[in-house]
Amino acid sequence: MKDRAMTMDTSEFDLDRYLRASKRVDLSTMEWARIREHPVTTAEARCLTYMMDIETHTVVFLRDLLATRASFDPEVTAFLSCWVYEELWHGEAFSRFLGEAGYRVAPTFEDVSGDDPFPTRVDRNQWVRQKFGTKGYVSHIGTLFGSALFRDFVAVHMTWGAVNELGTLTGYHRIIAKTEHPVLIQLLQAVIKDERRHFAFYRAQARMRLARSRQARTITRWALEHLWAPVGTGVRPQSETDFVIHSLFGDADGMVAVKEMEATLGELPGLEGSRFLTDALEGAATRLGRPLGMG
Ligand SMILES: [Fe+2]
Ligand SMILES: [Fe+2]
Repeated sequence: MKDRAMTMDTSEFDLDRYLRASKRVDLSTMEWARIREHPVTTAEARCLTYMMDIETHTVVFLRDLLATRASFDPEVTAFLSCWVYEELWHGEAFSRFLGEAGYRVAPTFEDVSGDDPFPTRVDRNQWVRQKFGTKGYVSHIGTLFGSALFRDFVAVHMTWGAVNELGTLTGYHRIIAKTEHPVLIQLLQAVIKDERRHFAFYRAQARMRLARSRQARTITRWALEHLWAPVGTGVRPQSETDFVIHSLFGDADGMVAVKEMEATLGELPGLEGSRFLTDALEGAATRLGRPLGMG
């Protein structure tokens, strides 16, 4: 096997293995018919709707990524090719779960079943993207400028990806810890397996790129502390992001999970002691007027 030591550290993430094993999340064993046997709370449905939208929106995030120097790196683009495919299926999984649970969402309030043709909720996805519209162009242009100005801008994107994947998989663990719905637990456990691999790739890329460049460390830390916001911010209304963040991380156990994420991210070069996740949680609590640490 050829040595790939000049680029990706294969001891931290085996890209070859990931690419060969990549597949859509397996929904064939999902017990769709049993979903209605257990209640899905309104709060759970709201969080799952948010995550459905964010998972489905991944391809638009990919547009921004591919406009940067990330597109020059064959390892990164190979990963992204499989990553966006897996995220599409996560969105579908949540869409079908909510549909089978009897939840209908704006703008057309359509019925969705586990065995409907793919993709579901086309109207909703168009609606979400149109509402995102101008904000999307602004972030796209900002990304283009950042990439043109800084050679190490890919480090920002890879670290950003690591933060978002870690937040997502930890959020799914928080839903599992709180829910009593056995089919939802089954679904989330399948999705989490993918999210772990996604996080591992971004973390390996971030570590490599941050370790070799002081400029990358400086810009990345600044970007996370000044520009980063929880995944889905801007794609959905701020009130929805705040609700989801507070629901999943606003209680005592959730706050412990946030500290653990900060400790994990703090192991990356240049991110020691950063607390932008805590800041985001506190911001959500302040806007909602709901204190942290209750329950
Ligand atoms: Fe996902
Ligand atoms: Fe992911």
